[in-house]
Amino acid sequence: MSIRLKTAGEIDAMAAAGVAVASALDRMKAAAKVGVTLLELEDIAREELKRHHASPSLLGYQPSFSSVPYQFATCLSLNDEVIHGLPRPKALKEGDLLGMDLVGNIDGWHADSTVSVLIGEGKPNARKLLMATRDAMWIGIRKCVPGATLGDVGHAIQTFLEKNRLGIVRDLSGHGVGTAVHEGGLDVLNFGQPGRGVRLEPGMTFAVEPMVTGGSGRVRQAPGDPWTIFTADHTLGAHFEHTIAVTEDGPRVLTALPK
Ligand code: MF3
Ligand code: CO
Repeated sequence: MSIRLKTAGEIDAMAAAGVAVASALDRMKAAAKVGVTLLELEDIAREELKRHHASPSLLGYQPSFSSVPYQFATCLSLNDEVIHGLPRPKALKEGDLLGMDLVGNIDGWHADSTVSVLIGEGKPNARKLLMATRDAMWIGIRKCVPGATLGDVGHAIQTFLEKNRLGIVRDLSGHGVGTAVHEGGLDVLNFGQPGRGVRLEPGMTFAVEPMVTGGSGRVRQAPGDPWTIFTADHTLGAHFEHTIAVTEDGPRVLTALPK
């Protein structure tokens, strides 16, 4: 599979979608309180994308693993759900750990990002999982410089998470992002060996997204639901994600609010 490098203008187009996604996630984060339902968060995402003239990329999206299109703008994954949890009329409660995943596009240029939040204080193990997953994402992003390899990125993430005795979800990975939500040729694993894998070049755009659990890292498909993936041992799952571009000057985060 060939990797399509993006021009500076194309990267700017993705960053515009990224701003819409980042501000939607920001609003959702502020709204995620006890008593608020997952569907209310879905509505905020749709409204905020619209305000930025961006479209919800997942609405009607049919990934290769599914026989039906997805029906929402967001994936909202609660507690032992790791990814692809469904917006539903369920109200948040104290101590919940919620992953909020959103993909938006402007004129077909996509940007994909996820934040996890704790509702209220949360238990120490949940706080640790959340912070370590976010740190692991940034450790991976910092490795995304020209000349490094995806093995270097995965290795850095893996080393950090194993030191923290957390479970890496090995069945799932980051991916190329651009004119599609998932572009082929770039599987951004959260484990790896230094110097192995695709060598990074300016113009590559992809999602760095550690998915991490408090247990073994093994995951399962929810019965009767083709989307939701939860932890096999029912420990908590956390997920952070940014879409980045590799540039001559190092990684550029495309799903961030403008400074
Ligand atoms: N951000 C999600 C991912 O990278 C988008 C997939 S959502 C799907 O896996 F449920 F529609 F597949
Ligand atoms: Co993604």
